[in-house]
Amino acid sequence: MSNVPQIKLNNGVLIPAIGTGSWAPNTVEEQSKVKGWILTALQNGYRHIDTAQSYYTEPAAGQAIRESGIPREQIFVTTKLPWNHQECVAQSFEQSLKNLGLDYVDLYLLHWPQPIAHDGGDGYGLLKNADGSIKLSDKINFNQAWVEFEKILESGKARSIGVSNFSVKTLEQLLTTAKHVPVTNQVELHPYLAQEDLRKYCDQKGITLTAYTPSGYATVRADPLIVELSKKYSTTPNQITLAWHIARGTIIVPKSESVERQKQNITLPTLEATDVAKINGLDRGERLCNAPDANGMMYGWTVEQLGW
Ligand SMILES: NC(=O)c1ccc[n+]([C@@H]2O[C@H](COP(=O)([O-])OP(=O)(O)OC[C@H]3O[C@@H](n4cnc5c(N)ncnc54)[C@H](OP(=O)(O)O)[C@@H]3O)[C@@H](O)[C@H]2O)c1
Repeated sequence: MSNVPQIKLNNGVLIPAIGTGSWAPNTVEEQSKVKGWILTALQNGYRHIDTAQSYYTEPAAGQAIRESGIPREQIFVTTKLPWNHQECVAQSFEQSLKNLGLDYVDLYLLHWPQPIAHDGGDGYGLLKNADGSIKLSDKINFNQAWVEFEKILESGKARSIGVSNFSVKTLEQLLTTAKHVPVTNQVELHPYLAQEDLRKYCDQKGITLTAYTPSGYATVRADPLIVELSKKYSTTPNQITLAWHIARGTIIVPKSESVERQKQNITLPTLEATDVAKINGLDRGERLCNAPDANGMMYGWTVEQLGW
């Protein structure tokens, strides 16, 4: 068993604070490797897998769970609704269970707030209008989609429900109608994008933040302060950044295909409070994974609509 700390969500469910990410490029070669590296993550102590239907990695996650021999109830499984499935949440959720080969998930996330039009097929591409803009659904909004999430929660097939890529603005809109407050909001979060306003808001509402792109990639690994602290604590720069999240009570889902880096990412130093504060000072509001385009658009919505 791993020594990863557990965090209690607002519904009382415990989640391991560190999970393995599972996004992979959608090529035959990359996808064929996924089961192998999720399996080594489980063998090396991870008990939390973050997948999504649109990553195409749900089947590999399910196979890795079964091959690991670890009892299902000891592994926390998160998956997400594709952005073009807000019109068909119940059907899409059943597809995710089928892909995973599981009869429940621990956490089901609304992957993006903006509802992309659905073409009825099983792809996750962005439908386009004649002018080249992304086609949004005119049949659904995220408040309505959340009602379907709440039905899934009440059915017991998801132990918890949450959101991803929501801002203070979109969370406020969601909470005008939500019966169940999301347990988590999974967002891009790292020392160059500390999201302090969102953190304060989520703290007040009992929503735990989950960081994606928790490392901040090579950009943050090369930051002089992160490098200096890695020498002080005799770790790698990546471990310093991940330890900073844990010190701030954030759930993280770092992804690595390498056994050595998987082990590093769950073996973290405890940072002194002064070092946490120094890393807080690196914030520069920089998105490294999902940044808006030159027109301020992000997958069909403006940054104003997203509240970014
Ligand atoms: N909700 C969303 O919209 C959303 C968006 C993006 C991502 N996610 C989730 O978040 C997960 C993680 O996000 P991410 O992949 O963007 O960020 P990340 O986990 O911070 O970075 C992954 C990259 O860092 C490398 N790496 C991992 N550990 C390392 C270490 N100890 N030292 C040096 N390099 C290391 C990995 O390479 P190797 O594999 O070669 O080690 C990989 O290239 C995804 O897999 C996915 O599950 C969610």
